[in-house]
Amino acid sequence: MKSNPLILGIESSCDETAAAVIRGRTLLSDEIISSAAVQAKYGGVVPEIASRAHTDAVDEVVSRALKAANVKKEELDAVAVTYGAGLLGALLVGLSFAKALAYALNIPLIGVNHIRGHLAAAYLEDEELKPPFVTLLASGGHTAVLYTKSETEFEILGGTLDDAAGEAFDKVARVLNLPYPGGPHVEALAREGKNVIPMPKMLKGQGGYDFSYSGLKTHIINYAHTMTQKGASWSAADLACSFQHAALDILVEKAVEAAKEKGVDTVTAGGGVIANGYLREHLQAACRRANLRLVLPERKRCTDNAAMIAAEGLIQFEAGNFSPLTLNAAASIPLR
Ligand code: KG4
Ligand code: ZN
Repeated sequence: MKSNPLILGIESSCDETAAAVIRGRTLLSDEIISSAAVQAKYGGVVPEIASRAHTDAVDEVVSRALKAANVKKEELDAVAVTYGAGLLGALLVGLSFAKALAYALNIPLIGVNHIRGHLAAAYLEDEELKPPFVTLLASGGHTAVLYTKSETEFEILGGTLDDAAGEAFDKVARVLNLPYPGGPHVEALAREGKNVIPMPKMLKGQGGYDFSYSGLKTHIINYAHTMTQKGASWSAADLACSFQHAALDILVEKAVEAAKEKGVDTVTAGGGVIANGYLREHLQAACRRANLRLVLPERKRCTDNAAMIAAEGLIQFEAGNFSPLTLNAAASIPLR
């Protein structure tokens, strides 16, 4: 098996068309063309628009990634690509492109589970990172605490019983009339407010490592409607801030608790919500207090990107897991 292979990663599961090149765990380039600004007009991702935007961008973004890495496509050892979960039409654009490239270059194709990509982002942050560790996953569709045993094996210690954390941010953003995608806008508004509005309990100290966000979301919707109906004055910034504390403190608490229980000395994190500045600060502080090392991917490698797909591609490459050219896209796939 070649050591430090040169891998191209391609991601097109939602509204970002992305490509990145890694050599071993060293990131050489990381490019994104996003259709988020167009999607924002519609208040969410319109699948058909996403697919067309990917078709327009995929060739360009791959060329940019190869150029920025100073690599010729003939030098690549493998192509890793997201095959699920995500929007089918969007996934098919990246997958078809990757298959054609792998076939033409006669190199392996590696189909990557998008969420595993989020988990693998930490390996690029610290090239020496080795399991076991505990991972906090918080994205638009997933919220979980995992015990990572080896690079290819993990145990789900707990997950959300209803909505994902990112989904809660997006729904609260709608209530507060903030644009899509909601997370960064709620975070910005929360910075101007105070944590003064009482929020429901968040399975604190109970429910093992499970989470529940639907009660919190309903509470926010009811609060905003009731106050507006009463004609009472209320602060959207305070509501955003109070929501953010409730939604994120529980993630920090359970991740640190899991690390202590599992007896590991390292915590990693991944997924769009991990880009949140308040969460990053508090996770950092909580890990310091508990004597845990925290490996946090850079903000732009928490939201969707291709570097994480290449990183998971490397893990599969080293495990000898390659995909046939008949690999199909999948709208939903389990975490494992
Ligand atoms: O991982 P991701 O980019 O896509 C999925 O695989 O789901 O996560 C997107 C989610 C969205 O719900 C978005 O609102 C949330 O991550 N998000 C944030 C922040 N940035 C993105 N949530 C809170 N604070 C942020 N700064
Ligand atoms: Zn994602």
